[in-house]
Amino acid sequence: MQTELSTQLGVEHAVFGFTPFPAVAAAISRAGGFGVLGAVRYTAPDDLRRDLDWIEAHVDGKPYGLDVVMPAKKVEGVSEADVEAMIPEGHRDFVRDTLAKYGVPELAEGEAAGWRITGWMEQVARSQLDVAFDYPIRLLANALGSPPPDVVSRAHEHGVLVAALAGSARHARKHQQAGIDIVVAQGYEAGGHTGEIASMVLTPEVVEAVDPLPVLAAGGIGSGRQAAAALALGAQGVWLGSVWLTTAEADLHSPALTRKLLAAGSGDTVRSRALTGKPARQLRTEWTDAWDDPQGPGTLPMPLQGLLVAEAVSRIQKHEVDPLLGTPVGQIVGRMNEVRSVQAVFDDLTRGFEQAVDRVNRVAGRSGQ
Ligand SMILES: Cc1cc2nc3c(=O)[nH]c(=O)nc-3n(C[C@H](O)[C@H](O)[C@H](O)COP(=O)(O)O)c2cc1C
Repeated sequence: MQTELSTQLGVEHAVFGFTPFPAVAAAISRAGGFGVLGAVRYTAPDDLRRDLDWIEAHVDGKPYGLDVVMPAKKVEGVSEADVEAMIPEGHRDFVRDTLAKYGVPELAEGEAAGWRITGWMEQVARSQLDVAFDYPIRLLANALGSPPPDVVSRAHEHGVLVAALAGSARHARKHQQAGIDIVVAQGYEAGGHTGEIASMVLTPEVVEAVDPLPVLAAGGIGSGRQAAAALALGAQGVWLGSVWLTTAEADLHSPALTRKLLAAGSGDTVRSRALTGKPARQLRTEWTDAWDDPQGPGTLPMPLQGLLVAEAVSRIQKHEVDPLLGTPVGQIVGRMNEVRSVQAVFDDLTRGFEQAVDRVNRVAGRSGQ
């Protein structure tokens, strides 16, 4: 599976894998794809440094990248405490009451809320970049909008390509104007923050909108035939996030959550604001139902919602409270039915890709060519 972009980056397959887990990122790159480590959950630069050191030691010299969440709009002089103070008491009561209803135990003394995500704050994302540029990363991706111009210039000075996720052709064109090198067109089916346009419609729209920039197709891709379809739609590669969650290398820290993912069907996700305040696709649970219930208080805007629920989500995860237990994941979860190694996912993907291409060639009357 080779395209101009995979050749430029020196990878065997034009398969890009987003993951919050260093072991998965390294395994993707070792398997011939391009592993991208999600940095949003790193609050301390030293933790990121430790994990990038680990990747360096385990990637066999193969290329990899980093994904940060740097919001396009700058929020100057606002601390986390200022943001916390904006959370209405009624919403805090709702969280307390919901946790009490399900008997969710407290975290142990001194145990940090692992879901306290602050990487979206510009100063945190910038401290991550200070670390990242000390490493030979080949790609910097940004989740929410185009990164600021000085970050794009800094990446280019280091010879690092810049990618940005887009849920519409309009967003993609904005990225192009901001000097981004690669657009990740992420469809409605995808896990995490998503727009409202499905991949089948979005991919060719974005490809045409930003031509000649390379586009990676994301959202709903978990098999070789889906990858072949994405390339047929004009993408220069595929960008996968959900499928890695049930790989042997992933570190979900929750056997119950892995079981839920393996059992879920493609209709068991919901696009909900429950986790961050922006629509993000995730497993549908009684927790997302509570937030989406018109009788409830409703969610707060980003970043308030994320701070409001951080501790609650950590408690639910830590104690594996089944009805409330969830994670961002896309509709492809319906095909994630067994724990496999990253290499096995790759083998399946590349074999399926070849079969799909052969089939299309046969349909086109080109068999044997
Ligand atoms: C658990 C999870 C966390 C994610 N977190 C981020 C993130 O921090 N930054 C980002 O750019 N994309 C994030 N995404 C989206 C992925 O980068 C990717 O675009 C998406 O998973 C592709 O669709 P798929 O889930 O159908 O494979 C996340 C996806 C998942 C499943």
